[in-house]
Amino acid sequence: MNQRELIEKANQEIERKRQIVESDYYRLRFHLMPPVGLLNDPNGFIQYKGVYHLFYQWNPFETAHGSKFWGHYTSTDLVKWEHQPVALAPSEWYEKNGCYSGSAIEHEGKMVLFYTGNVKDENGERETYQCMAVSNDGMIFDKKGPVIHLPKGYTAHFRDPKVWKKDDTWYMVLGAQDVTEQGKVVLYSSQNLTDWEFHGAITGSEMNGLGPYGYMWECPDLFELDGKDVLLVSPQGLEPEGDLYHNLFQAGYFVGEFNAEEFSYQHGAFTELDRGFDFYAPQTTTDVKGRRLLFAWMGITDENEKYQPTIEKGWIHAMTLPRVLSLKGEKVVQQPVEELKQLRKNEVSYENVQVNTEIVTLDKVQGTSMEMLIDGISYHSDSFEVTFRGAVNFFYSTKENKMSLHRKNFKDGRVESRHCQIYGIKKLHVFLDTSSIEIFVNDGEEVFTARYYPSVENESVSFKAEGKLQFNMKKWNLD
Ligand code: FRU
Repeated sequence: MNQRELIEKANQEIERKRQIVESDYYRLRFHLMPPVGLLNDPNGFIQYKGVYHLFYQWNPFETAHGSKFWGHYTSTDLVKWEHQPVALAPSEWYEKNGCYSGSAIEHEGKMVLFYTGNVKDENGERETYQCMAVSNDGMIFDKKGPVIHLPKGYTAHFRDPKVWKKDDTWYMVLGAQDVTEQGKVVLYSSQNLTDWEFHGAITGSEMNGLGPYGYMWECPDLFELDGKDVLLVSPQGLEPEGDLYHNLFQAGYFVGEFNAEEFSYQHGAFTELDRGFDFYAPQTTTDVKGRRLLFAWMGITDENEKYQPTIEKGWIHAMTLPRVLSLKGEKVVQQPVEELKQLRKNEVSYENVQVNTEIVTLDKVQGTSMEMLIDGISYHSDSFEVTFRGAVNFFYSTKENKMSLHRKNFKDGRVESRHCQIYGIKKLHVFLDTSSIEIFVNDGEEVFTARYYPSVENESVSFKAEGKLQFNMKKWNLD
C-alpha cells in the first residue's frame, strides 16, 4: 500500500473503534494516548516555530507491536494537545516493516526527521536503514530515504537516531548491537545532514569500564545539562541487582563529558531514571525557555504487556507527563512542567494532618484524576504508607531508608513491587490519573511511574504509619 492508502486505512481504524475506545473507563484524562491501537516511544520531540510537536510510535491496527507509523500531536503549552494527521506511514521498501523511532531538528526553517526504516526480508532477516524526511510546515513530510546504511561490525539491531547540532556540526547517536552481541551507542557526524561520517561506539557494554552491560542499547539521547553531558539510554539485557533493574528493560542515564573533537564520551555510573514499572525510551528536547524537556513511554514491552486490560477496548499504553530535567550533583532530577498547573481545579488544603497506626482518609481527597502535593512531611515511625484507590501502595521504611511501590500485576493480580533507596522523605508530588500514577519524591530526586487498574468504585487515598506521621496537603482535580 502507498502512504496515502495506509493513512486512510489508519483513519478508518480510528473511526471504526472510536466508540469502544472512548467508552473505556481507564482512558486517561491528562496524558497522551493513541486514538486506537498501540503507542510506544516518543519520537521527534521538538518545539518548532513556537509549537511543540510530539510524534509517537504507533500501530493503529493492533494492540500489539508491528509495522509502526509515526503518530503526531501538537501543543502550544505542553498541556492541551491536538492530534494531527499521521506523519510517517511504513509505505516504502526501506521501512516496510515500520518507521521506527527517531528525532526531529530544525534546519533552515524546515523540520527534518531522522528515523529507522525497519525491514524484514523474505527469510525474516532484519535490515535497518536510517532515513530522513523533510517538512516545510511540520505537518507534511517528504521522505528522502536512507542516509545511513548498516556499518561493518554491527548487527541489524541498529536504530533510533537522535540528532543535534553543536557549533557547526551535526551529530547523531544511535542504539546498536555489535557482532559480539554487546549493546552500544554509536556516533556519526555530518556537515549537511545527508552525508554522515561514522565514528564507531562511544560507550556501551564492555566499554568505559562498564563490563557486560546488555545485549542491545535502544533510544540514546546525548545532551548538555547544566554544564555536563548526559546520555539517556535504554539498555536491554541487564540482570536484576538488589533493588535495581527489575523491569525487563531499563531506562537510565550517565553523566559525563562528550568530546566532539575526539568523538568520545567519558562518564560515570548508570542510574535508572525512574523507579516504577512503566517508563521506557525517554526522549528530550529544548525549548525557547531554555528548558530540557522529557517525555517517556509510560509502558514497556514485557511478558505482561498483553494482559493490560485496555486491550479489550482497542488501545494500549500512554506517554508520561512532560518533565523538566536538571542536574543536582551527578543526579538527574525530574520535575513536572509548570504549565500543568493550568489543569488545577477546586483546590483543597489540609494543614498538619496527623496519622498514627489507624488508617486515615481525608474527606476531600478523593477522585480518579488529581494532583496531590504532600509536603512538610515529618515522621517518628519505622514506616509509613499511602494507598491510592486501593490499587497502588507507596511505602517508606525509615529503618531501611527504602521506598517501595506496590501494585497488582496485570496477569494474575499478584502484588509486585519496585524499590529504591532514599535518605528521608520531605515531599511527595503525585499525579494520579484514571489508570496511571507518577510520584515525584523530594522535588523529583526520584520518580515512580506506573499504570494501575483500580476497581471502578474506589476513589480513596489512605495513609497509615507504624508510629507518627505528619504532613500538609494540597489537592486539585485535574481534567
Ligand atoms: C523501543 C523500540 C525502539 C524501536 C521502536 C519500535 O521501545 O524498540 O528501539 O525503534 O521501539 O517501535
